[in-house]
Amino acid sequence: MAVKEVFPGVYKIGGLLATRNITPGRRAYTEGLETEDGIEYRMWNPYRSKLAAAILNGLKHFAFDERSSVLYIGAATGTTASHISDIAKNGSLYCIELSERNMRELVRVCEMRGNMLPILADARYPDRYADTVEQCDIIYQDASAREQAQMLKANARFLKRSGIAYFVIKSQSADVSKDPKIVFKRELELLSDEFDLLQTVALEPFDRLHMFAVLRKR
Ligand SMILES: C[S@@+](CC[C@H](N)C(=O)[O-])C[C@H]1O[C@@H](n2cnc3c(N)ncnc32)[C@H](O)[C@@H]1O
Repeated sequence: MAVKEVFPGVYKIGGLLATRNITPGRRAYTEGLETEDGIEYRMWNPYRSKLAAAILNGLKHFAFDERSSVLYIGAATGTTASHISDIAKNGSLYCIELSERNMRELVRVCEMRGNMLPILADARYPDRYADTVEQCDIIYQDASAREQAQMLKANARFLKRSGIAYFVIKSQSADVSKDPKIVFKRELELLSDEFDLLQTVALEPFDRLHMFAVLRKR
């Protein structure tokens, strides 16, 4: 099947998204593996990863490359993080996760992948990992928590000037009683003093509860 690179390190194989597996023969979760011309790819499911959904829905600003340093807030069990690890194969990925249960699975994924570091921490208190995390090119935040914008602001100190933040906003975590559009708008307004908004991407039909925002730090 034809393989087309759509962004650095991101491929389309027969219309489906994939990344090139830096751990050939090994899966990070239950993803399909596909070999084309002797290269193994991991299929990237947009129903399981909002970054994949955003790419398929017209994301324009793709800041990741093979050397990117990334602070990933809300890494969960490492599904999306593992694909970023494929893309930023010579970079580094600091994976913050609060849940101990998710962390057990995340550690397994990080042990296979030399560019991923698991950090069990609450991202609302970045002082606790300030000694471990370097200045990053990118922040990727997908943490189903209240006060999402405040969490990103608290972590913006780790983002280089002009660095890109991918901010997945969950309408229900922020305020269940409010119209999602109002929640999204309010969260973005809270960031407007430090970030320029570059793009918002709706994630339907892959996901209906979140909006995907791309911001640049001033
Ligand atoms: C929707 S899941 C993330 C899915 C993941 N980004 C992916 O695509 O593979 C949200 C995660 O954020 C974590 N989380 C929530 N509040 C957090 C906090 N204050 N600090 C760190 N992680 C948090 C949750 O434990 C959960 O694992």
